[in-house]
Amino acid sequence: MQSFIQSLPKAELHLHIEGSLEPELLLSLSRKHQIDLPYKNIEQIHQAYNFEDLQSFLDLYYLGASVLIDEDDFYQLMWQYLCKCKEQNIVHTEIMFDPQTHTHRGIGFDVFMPGFLRAIKQAESEWGQSVYLILSFLRHLSQEDALLTLDAAKNYLADVKAVGLDSSEQGNPPRKFAQVFSKSAELGLLKVAHAGEEGPADYVWEAIQLLHVDRIDHGVRSDEDPKLIDYLKLHQIALTVCPLSNTKLCVFDDMTQHNILKMLDQGLLVTVNSDDPSYFGGYLNENYLALHTAFELDKSTITQLVKNSFIGSFLPAEQKKHWLNQVDAALAK
Ligand code: HPA
Ligand code: ZN
Repeated sequence: MQSFIQSLPKAELHLHIEGSLEPELLLSLSRKHQIDLPYKNIEQIHQAYNFEDLQSFLDLYYLGASVLIDEDDFYQLMWQYLCKCKEQNIVHTEIMFDPQTHTHRGIGFDVFMPGFLRAIKQAESEWGQSVYLILSFLRHLSQEDALLTLDAAKNYLADVKAVGLDSSEQGNPPRKFAQVFSKSAELGLLKVAHAGEEGPADYVWEAIQLLHVDRIDHGVRSDEDPKLIDYLKLHQIALTVCPLSNTKLCVFDDMTQHNILKMLDQGLLVTVNSDDPSYFGGYLNENYLALHTAFELDKSTITQLVKNSFIGSFLPAEQKKHWLNQVDAALAK
């Protein structure tokens, strides 16, 4: 099944670039910039990456991001992930980045954006990688801060496809960000938001009704509200589900308890994604494999999930059609 998963062209729709910072790069950048970390080696990092909930992960995720200082650091970070895309046959990816994680340390858009864009242009020209960027607001900060961030991004919005909302969900409902999402829409940006990861199904409703999102990140707790499930099905609103993330952060006790297949059976547009692969123990193919190990997926289920990744993407219709045909072509081989 591993080679079958590998053989299919896939899209990834939920990936935090800061969450793709591998322990090796983390250590080498900490040495380069002489930043003290509570880990001395890779082994200690792996031991530390044992999380009990979202916040316990976020604490280490923000700590890890503190080694990203200059343009080349952001280039290396993006380049390493894009090389993974090539390796795993991820032909299209929609990547989130957290500007405030950097601007709050005095590192501005003119540092991280040129680094990201240099890597993206290289991957586009070297092997035709398709990439969109999603600028994510940190929901534990204020809407005012998000508005300032959107303003600070103005010279780079031509390279940004959508805005998103991430970080600590509980107690930071989508409604807190209605104004900045409305302003983003006026600027021509699409919208996504993390909702229903740890927070209640009501937050998914808020993301839909108050932020007017085009897609929901995670959304696994939608399951608690049958009316919401009906709505997601009727409108085919994509959910970007992240199986390894959900088990590492104890949203589900183990993979056999995950509800992604139940939601797929209910007719929802669910997709498979890696979220923060360096912290959760696997990139996209490992997420498909983990589902296969837990549920013995057949090829047609995997194919449907892969097709959903293109259907739920922000690609224009003709490119979606192109990639869906490519999936069928890979199947025929
Ligand atoms: N949830 C919320 N915020 C995040 C996540 C996540 O899974 N990953 C990175 N920031
Ligand atoms: Zn996420």
